[in-house]
Amino acid sequence: MKAVVLAAGKGRRLWPLTENRPKPMIPVANRPILEHVLDALEAAGVDEVLLVVGANRQRVQNYFGNGQGWAFDISYVVQGRQLGTGHALLQAESVIGESFLALNGDRIIDAELIERVWERHRETTEPVVSATRVPEPSRYGVVEFDGREVKTIEEKPIPELTTSEFINAGVYAFAPDIFAAIRETESKGEQALTDTLSELLAEQRLQAVTYRGMWLDVSEPWDLLEVNNSLIAAEGPVDSESANVDPTAVVVEAAIVGDGVAVHPQAAVLRGVTLGDNVSIGPGAIVENAVILSDVTLKPGAVVTDCIVGANTTIGPNTTVKGGTTDVVLNDRVYHEVTFGGLLGDNVEIGANVAIQPGAVVGNNATVGDSTYVSGRIDEGADIRRG
Ligand code: G1P
Repeated sequence: MKAVVLAAGKGRRLWPLTENRPKPMIPVANRPILEHVLDALEAAGVDEVLLVVGANRQRVQNYFGNGQGWAFDISYVVQGRQLGTGHALLQAESVIGESFLALNGDRIIDAELIERVWERHRETTEPVVSATRVPEPSRYGVVEFDGREVKTIEEKPIPELTTSEFINAGVYAFAPDIFAAIRETESKGEQALTDTLSELLAEQRLQAVTYRGMWLDVSEPWDLLEVNNSLIAAEGPVDSESANVDPTAVVVEAAIVGDGVAVHPQAAVLRGVTLGDNVSIGPGAIVENAVILSDVTLKPGAVVTDCIVGANTTIGPNTTVKGGTTDVVLNDRVYHEVTFGGLLGDNVEIGANVAIQPGAVVGNNATVGDSTYVSGRIDEGADIRRG
């Protein structure tokens, strides 16, 4: 069983985290999203993995190497420019000579889905698409099916015209003739795999495998918080033996704590929190519903809620990310009522008594002076001061 995993996407909506790592390498529950995907492939019995890499590909290759420690070998092909999922898959053409699985590298799923898609392909030899039900189908490729067959597949339709609650779950099985079909698809800028699949429907059957299991998607920053919570619930807490928690501090059981973490006196690590390696939670600091990457320091009395904090960032004394529900504008789109305290990039320095408003996004290497008020988007490297 061979699997091609698409891991070349930049993940623009997750800026600034995706400046320093591609989206599949963003950690949730302290492991890159892609590692959760590879876990499922391993459990499904896949014996060869080909990763299509692009932006920041060294981060992927350094981390996974040639698959040492995994049950499969890992090799790589490069997608030089992000020209869509169909184009990404085409990069595998010269390496793949038989039927194969294809997966998105940034959607966390159960091994069961992979097994069922493969089984159906073996049974029918036809292309297989998987479908799962989500609350907002128009954000994805919407799939209508009839029994075991796909009837229509449409990429990100207008919400009012959405005809199904089921979406393309991003796990497929194909014979190598899919490559020719992708090349023959007329592309309108991006070469979307779903456009090819939609065209194929005119001439052949597409199998649909419906699925109700775990399907975790990180598209927008606040999804990281939800996915983190789901993984804590599904996989249980992880407590590093090398963490140093003061006896007067509180760390709830359902937290994931990395190596070398220090939780100082009177600090509280509450529900829905993952702390990366070497994070320091200062005296009296409080953190709740947050994904904190490695080497982050919360100074005494800092309060961080509903927030994602990039690597090596420092949050000053008594600074608050107060969290809560807000409307957020991202890449010219308004998202209503999302629970999102903010996203701070890597290597950000935030001073004392700063108030970070819900929905703020702070670029990498920014510096925010004492007693300032931060809202909206702050550019990479900005230097924000009071007055
Ligand atoms: C891609 C596919 C879409 C699918 C989604 C989730 O979209 O194009 O059809 O539903 O993955 O598997 P993306 O969100 O990566 O743009």
